[in-house]
Amino acid sequence: MNHFNYQNRELHCESVPVAKIAAEIGTPFYLYSGATLTQHFKAFDGPFASIPHLSCFAVKSCSNIAILRLFASLGGGADIVSGGELFRALAAGVDPAKIVYSGVGKTREELEYALKTKILQFNIESEQELEALQEVAAQLGVTAPVSFRVNPDVDPQTHAYISTGLAKNKFGIPIETADQVYAKAMQMANIKVQGVSCHIGSQLTLVSPFIESLHKIKIFTKKLAAQGITITHLDLGGGLGIQYDDETPPHPDDYAAAIKKEIADLNCTLILEPGRVIAGNAGILVTRVHYTKHSPTKKFVVVDAGMNDLARPSLYGAYHAIRPVSETDLGSEVADVVGPICETGDFLARDQKVPVSNQGDLLAVMSAGAYGFSMASNYNSRPRVAEIMVSGEQYHVIRARETYENLIKGEAIPEFLMASPDSEHRKTSKS
Ligand code: LLP
Repeated sequence: MNHFNYQNRELHCESVPVAKIAAEIGTPFYLYSGATLTQHFKAFDGPFASIPHLSCFAVKSCSNIAILRLFASLGGGADIVSGGELFRALAAGVDPAKIVYSGVGKTREELEYALKTKILQFNIESEQELEALQEVAAQLGVTAPVSFRVNPDVDPQTHAYISTGLAKNKFGIPIETADQVYAKAMQMANIKVQGVSCHIGSQLTLVSPFIESLHKIKIFTKKLAAQGITITHLDLGGGLGIQYDDETPPHPDDYAAAIKKEIADLNCTLILEPGRVIAGNAGILVTRVHYTKHSPTKKFVVVDAGMNDLARPSLYGAYHAIRPVSETDLGSEVADVVGPICETGDFLARDQKVPVSNQGDLLAVMSAGAYGFSMASNYNSRPRVAEIMVSGEQYHVIRARETYENLIKGEAIPEFLMASPDSEHRKTSKS
């Protein structure tokens, strides 16, 4: 369920016509529905209400501070993977006691920042990272709450680039030998061992891989218990998939029921790190058709958004439905919807059924709320687009469109190049 619907053939976000926003702020822009974000958060978090748990929204999936604030107001925490994401979460008002920190390459500076902030948990992914955390915590004279991310070697049956829990992936510590790292951590003066973590991949459309990893984790926690190590926090990561096209992902109710059944005897606080399942279908990318043209074999619809704005189609061959902002009687046709970037891989849809559209038409790229803006870049020196959040009959600019000035912020021409631009050229051409 989401709040992008047609009223009188005009696409609306809640009660606001998408075309009205486009007319007022220009295109392209990301558009989020506050009501959908709220509804999705509750639909995910609600079924776990009967057990001690915490839903930490995966900041990487949609990082805008207004959106992080919304989830914080609903009782959510944050799953972060960098100092920058910690900064965002704090700026949004997320309670540090609800922040978990994942990722294989945390720097000492980042560890220090998070320790000073007093976050809930560090999800440690290697022995060397553990040693670094012990050192930094000792320097600060504090104790670091730690969970280890184990790699259960389970196939999440998703795109290879977003599988993370296979033995060949860079993530986590092999579950077979992880008890040795726990034993080591137990001896460290500034480490408090509290959890086991696991995140096996993203866009999972089956419950079974989650349950398979849980089985392995349960066996693992028993092994730890036999060594006198008690686990109080179980972090199952994110990964629940959404419908982009014809996928049939499990409903959050079924996902929660299966997990609750499995962990009933574990006596742990459950931590979850959902991203896509909450934000994915709560946002769209709105773009305008610049030109249309035909090659001998194809029709191209050239729009003003490109792979720098939404990387998923180029990066993973991901499907995003394209819908008209104003419905017409022209029907649909197979075409490529492409951006202005100088790369053949710059497409939002390829050989896809899309609305027949003409110059000036507005198109909505659906299911773009997760890993959309947060993966955007300035490639081809394109200012990043605006982000808008609708709440009922109002819309709010939650990130202004970048300007050309923003593009060169921080860049500098060193003194030796400050002479007139072609002086060097003249010198070489004389010699
Ligand atoms: N926790 C950890 C440790 C993660 O690495 C991720 C995602 C999540 C939670 C959230 O997973 P979700 O619930 O959103 O599936 N850019 C890719 C997705 C990369 C996911 C990376 N990790 C895409 O656009 O499909």
